[in-house]
Amino acid sequence: MTNPPEFIPAPDSTAPESTYFDLTALPQAARYKLLTASVVPRPIAWVSTVSETGTVNLAPYSFFNLLGSDPPVVAFAPGDRADGTPKDTALNVASGGEFTVNLVSAALAATMNATATDFPRHLGEPETLDIALVPGIQVRTPRVAASPAALECRHVQTVLIGRTRIILGEVLGLTLRSDAVQDAGKHHVDTAALDLIGRMGGRGGYTTTRGTFTVDRIGYEAWQAAQEKAPED
Ligand SMILES: Cc1cc2nc3c(=O)[nH]c(=O)nc-3n(C[C@H](O)[C@H](O)[C@H](O)COP(=O)(O)O)c2cc1C
Repeated sequence: MTNPPEFIPAPDSTAPESTYFDLTALPQAARYKLLTASVVPRPIAWVSTVSETGTVNLAPYSFFNLLGSDPPVVAFAPGDRADGTPKDTALNVASGGEFTVNLVSAALAATMNATATDFPRHLGEPETLDIALVPGIQVRTPRVAASPAALECRHVQTVLIGRTRIILGEVLGLTLRSDAVQDAGKHHVDTAALDLIGRMGGRGGYTTTRGTFTVDRIGYEAWQAAQEKAPED
């Protein structure tokens, strides 16, 4: 065995004891359990779409995030059903080319969870569960009226990596509940007012976004100045 390169630190006795999992050697269920309980909290995209026959579909996806702003891009990942068929959301995005990501407040948690029920394809969740919708502005997909933030998206690409399907969308428009807009001209959002929730691991685990804190970023010059001022050990 050759010596490790210098930049790999030697084992440190002060490092906490750790447990390594080789994910390439584990079954899918184990990978899912380990990773969804470790990569937390995950934001939740409550995705509305319209089917070829005009049924409005609504379902939550926590394999989701914002990936850029120029142009703004979001991604989410619908897995297949147990029988290997794609979920309604994936079918509707492929046929309709549009979707709306509704973000989920704590007040909407139970309603959002109800839309994860595997209703047959012809039953739209908003109609079945009596969830009020508002028409889209740049897209045909409506948004959830009670959602504090909704992103109108144009489907740009679907990437398949094995059985993982990643849907990428360009965000064309953002609707925010007005009490969360502090200064529309300066684009200041009162994020706390959105009161969003995130997905944790395990069965039915969620978190609020209420315990936030801030940490200032500093530039390199400010960092250097701080080093010079720091008293010697
Ligand atoms: C909070 C939450 C997050 C979820 N995230 C995902 C996800 O990222 N990918 C996925 O395939 N299913 C996810 N599900 C399950 C889907 O919502 C569920 O399979 C739903 O029936 C799909 O509906 P559709 O066929 O109308 O698209 C999630 C469920 C919940 C409650």
